[in-house]
Amino acid sequence: MDILKDKLKKLFRQILSRFSAYGYGYKISTEVWNLEYESGRWEYLSTIHQMAHYMIIVGYIYHVRDELLKNNLSLLDVGCGQGVILRYLEAGQFSNYLGIDISSEAIKQAQSYSGSNIQFVEANFEEYEAEQKFDLIIFNETIYYANSPVQTLLRYQKFLKPHGLFIVSIYIQRNSLDYIKKINNFFDVVSSIKVENDKRKKWTIELLKPRKLSQA
Ligand SMILES: C[S@@+](CC[C@H](N)C(=O)[O-])C[C@H]1O[C@@H](n2cnc3c(N)ncnc32)[C@H](O)[C@@H]1O
Repeated sequence: MDILKDKLKKLFRQILSRFSAYGYGYKISTEVWNLEYESGRWEYLSTIHQMAHYMIIVGYIYHVRDELLKNNLSLLDVGCGQGVILRYLEAGQFSNYLGIDISSEAIKQAQSYSGSNIQFVEANFEEYEAEQKFDLIIFNETIYYANSPVQTLLRYQKFLKPHGLFIVSIYIQRNSLDYIKKINNFFDVVSSIKVENDKRKKWTIELLKPRKLSQA
């Protein structure tokens, strides 16, 4: 009976995963995110096949810190999941990191990364109000889960310091190129890098500057 129950649970999760793979307008409930993190569905983000697009983000972080700011950075990671970006970033490389995610299970797993300058908060990014301003705000494979990606980025501008920038990483599938075009209409594209991994999966990772700050 228990084996049957486990098999049914697994099947249920697989079906949920299939429907929640995309974002792009599909509403994915917090319960599904929690089930997916519990089932290990997102473990693959920590594999070597995913490393390249995280490393571009890390490259942008170092570029902004060393070339533009010449100071330590505060980072907001929106939809941080298990905090995988911290696999590639040592705590000494930033002044503070805050990861927010709607999934309590993701936040629980993310706690494996710890440090006095690392914090995780369970929150819905559609409503979240940050209590501080950041040098960099990262949307890593998350902006397409927003009700309105452009409006979300515009709202998050108020949580950026005057010189602050966004890093937006988008997994290329279906209509993602339309999303990128729409986003790029509202921001100055400081850099846009395309990555393809050994499994032919593609990402576009961009460093974006809010328009009203482009004279700064
Ligand atoms: C594809 S995962 C990416 C995780 C992480 N950014 C990474 O790349 O390692 C998308 C994440 O967005 C989170 N998410 C989706 N909608 C959200 C929302 N409205 N508020 C906060 N987090 C959300 C999910 O829980 C999930 O952890």
